[in-house]
Amino acid sequence: MKRILTGLQPSGELTIGSLIGGISQTIKYQDEYESFIFVPDLHAITVPQDAKLLHERIKKNVALYIASGVNPEKNTIYIQSDNLYHTNLAWILECNTYMGEASRMTQFKDKSSKFKNIPVGLFTYPILMASDILLYDADYVPVGIDQKQHVELARDIAIRFNGKYGDTFKIPEPLIPKTGAKIMDLQDPTKKMSKSETNPKGIIYLLDDEKTIRKKIMSAVTDSEAKVCYDPEKKPGISNLLTIYAYFKKVTIEESEKEFIGKNYGEFKTKVADIVVEELLKIQEKYNEIMKDNQIDIILNKGKEITTEIAKKKYEEVVKKIGLGR
Ligand code: TYM
Repeated sequence: MKRILTGLQPSGELTIGSLIGGISQTIKYQDEYESFIFVPDLHAITVPQDAKLLHERIKKNVALYIASGVNPEKNTIYIQSDNLYHTNLAWILECNTYMGEASRMTQFKDKSSKFKNIPVGLFTYPILMASDILLYDADYVPVGIDQKQHVELARDIAIRFNGKYGDTFKIPEPLIPKTGAKIMDLQDPTKKMSKSETNPKGIIYLLDDEKTIRKKIMSAVTDSEAKVCYDPEKKPGISNLLTIYAYFKKVTIEESEKEFIGKNYGEFKTKVADIVVEELLKIQEKYNEIMKDNQIDIILNKGKEITTEIAKKKYEEVVKKIGLGR
């Protein structure tokens, strides 16, 4: 059985972008593939975090994966920092990655431009991500378009390592959703909806209440044409709302476009808000139930046990091949 693996950083509250680009694909493939989903908490500290908030978000995120439809019986769910092999292998991979290829990462360029003193971890972040993937011989890595370059780097590192030391790592492939690979900010639809953005007005969080969701959607930036149609270049705001609508309504973008022929933006936005509220309230109801009992710890303990065993085997194979240790 093929294996999929993905992670969502606890660097901020999860958004509908995290759901549509990240979690939804895991849910889609959980019957077909062996599935691993984890919380990359070590990635979150590549930028400053409040320790208390970070800690709270780790379990909260796991509860949100499950509330969104990730079945803990069908997925191995775990925390990155629970398994020391991730960082151990990352070091070895760092020694097999070139400055040139790591310097090409566009996310590093974007994120580092915000710092006067750039944390080194922000630069080596994609190599830790390669370790997350390669430790488990993942066949597919479901991600939004922003993470595609990182998965490609993981592929390049694996190919180089295999060439140098013999067949060791499976070469992973990114799985990018056809619809919703990049959900945009509602206030600035030319940029990604990001959980680490400080202005919450353009972001719909999975735990936003009904009033907040409606307000954010009704005040989403659009254009002056008053025609609901999909054209991400000329109409990024409307196209983004159509993508969100199509995802939650479980229809195609073309079907959504047809539904709104002749409708004005007010009517369209109200319908988008209705479906987002309906679906997010269902997730929130499940989330509240999950947070009441202790099943998350049981799930994470099981995940830790399963993944540590797999990672240990792969790590020991690597150590032997490169001549480390006794
Ligand atoms: P992160 O936490 O930024 O995002 C988690 C997943 O959600 C997707 N995503 C989006 N998709 C569409 N539109 C958006 N606005 C949007 N925002 C987020 C992301 O593409 C991603 O799939 N480095 C990763 C976490 C990670 C990881 C891994 C992922 C660490 N190790 C190994 C896969 C495999 C990250 O920061 O994702």
